[in-house]
Amino acid sequence: MDFIGLPTNYDCDDYENSSIGWNPSEKLKELSEAGARYLIARQVHTINNNVIIGNPIGFVMFQFTFEETMADDDSKIETIYCYEIQLTEEARNKGLGTFLMNTMERIGRYFGMKKSMLTAFKENTAALNFYCNHLGYEIDEISPSRCVDPEYIDDYDYEILSKRYEYRLGS
Ligand SMILES: CC(C)(COP(=O)(O)OP(=O)(O)OC[C@H]1O[C@@H](n2cnc3c(N)ncnc32)[C@H](O)[C@@H]1OP(=O)(O)O)[C@@H](O)C(=O)NCCC(=O)NCCS
Repeated sequence: MDFIGLPTNYDCDDYENSSIGWNPSEKLKELSEAGARYLIARQVHTINNNVIIGNPIGFVMFQFTFEETMADDDSKIETIYCYEIQLTEEARNKGLGTFLMNTMERIGRYFGMKKSMLTAFKENTAALNFYCNHLGYEIDEISPSRCVDPEYIDDYDYEILSKRYEYRLGS
């Protein structure tokens, strides 16, 4: 797990400011779960025509799950769930986040998942912009803002976002 930089280099502002709070050992446990799958981006240098693989500069962690829906029969849906995406500050705003998310979605489509999903804190407007305006994610039907009584909506500081897949890759 060293590549993630826990607990010192991890971007945990979102959690610190949230109702959940920041708990590095809980986060490490989540990121180490048996079902966790990673795409890791590393720096590459070329020295005298030799390609040198350097330090990690970002990762996306996801799991294959079945997620709840609002269907009357309580059916669940095959989902690729993005638990975390983090890039080092120097690696941001260069298209790497888009590349990692697109690659994760391609994996989901290939393995017959019906949608991809993630949770984002409402305060992280940069991430919400990235997911919704750039990658085409929408507020999911099970997100608090769509299914909780408006009177209690302020108790929830996150949104659940998702993107439905219209086709399976390779079929
Ligand atoms: C959010 C994150 C994964 C985005 O990855 P990225 O590589 O920086 O994003 P990209 O370069 O692929 O940007 C794609 C688009 O996202 C949007 N975007 C990305 N970062 C943004 C920011 N800080 N503010 C506003 N918009 C942003 C832009 O619209 C950009 O589109 P453009 O090409 O028209 O400018 C990355 O910035 C990051 O690791 N942030 C810190 C950790 C984090 O917040 N993770 C998400 C937790 S839910």
